[in-house]
Amino acid sequence: MPKSERSKVEVEGFEAKYYDQMMWILTLGQYQRLIRRAVKDTGVKLGDHVLEFGCGTGIAAVEFAKLIGNDGRYVGLDVSEIMLEKARKKCRDFKNFKFLNMRIEEHLPFENEFDVGFMSFVFHGLEMPDRIAVLRNAFKALKDGGRMCIFDYAHFDVEKSPFPVKYFILNIECPLAAEFIALDLKDLFESVGFTDYTEKLYAKGYLRLACGSKR
Ligand SMILES: C[S@@+](CC[C@H](N)C(=O)[O-])C[C@H]1O[C@@H](n2cnc3c(N)ncnc32)[C@H](O)[C@@H]1O
Repeated sequence: MPKSERSKVEVEGFEAKYYDQMMWILTLGQYQRLIRRAVKDTGVKLGDHVLEFGCGTGIAAVEFAKLIGNDGRYVGLDVSEIMLEKARKKCRDFKNFKFLNMRIEEHLPFENEFDVGFMSFVFHGLEMPDRIAVLRNAFKALKDGGRMCIFDYAHFDVEKSPFPVKYFILNIECPLAAEFIALDLKDLFESVGFTDYTEKLYAKGYLRLACGSKR
């Protein structure tokens, strides 16, 4: 049962079982390529330790695997056992990869141990107190100098966007998505202690990779 009725990011049942196929159709086959670009743009390096919040079926995990190599470490957190099973299967050959069933806004047992935190298409569907809790968890889990990156919708005027975009955000996405799009993410990152905020835009400016550093 999703924690908030305004959220659709807790994927269950049919949607969880066919998540990869649905994302393929929804993005006309572009989802893996988009995630690949975002993962590369986090600046992750060989040997890095990565913590992913809401890792889903492991789409980003396989991209991190190509970049961190055997000396790196990856931990993916998700609340859906169906999604986690798919991720474990995709990454079964990577011995340095672990997938754990944990709620990302609750207490996490990680402190000063990761170089990169990553989250894609989860943040927009969280209520504000949970967004702050996740960012605090990320801040605590990162090493000094580590970087948290969120890949999600960009900041734009939904009302003035082309009809298909406006229709998708207001009718198909969760109500929390429109609220997220109007948010100042830089302020939010800085409110929990992150510095050096950067944003990179994708998909005609409708998506962004927002990153902040722990220093
Ligand atoms: C829309 S999917 C995105 C999955 C993946 N990041 C991607 O880009 O393909 C959202 C994921 O976040 C997970 N999720 C949602 N809320 C969560 C929470 N509070 N704690 C842990 N995982 C959560 C869901 O189970 C789902 O796998």
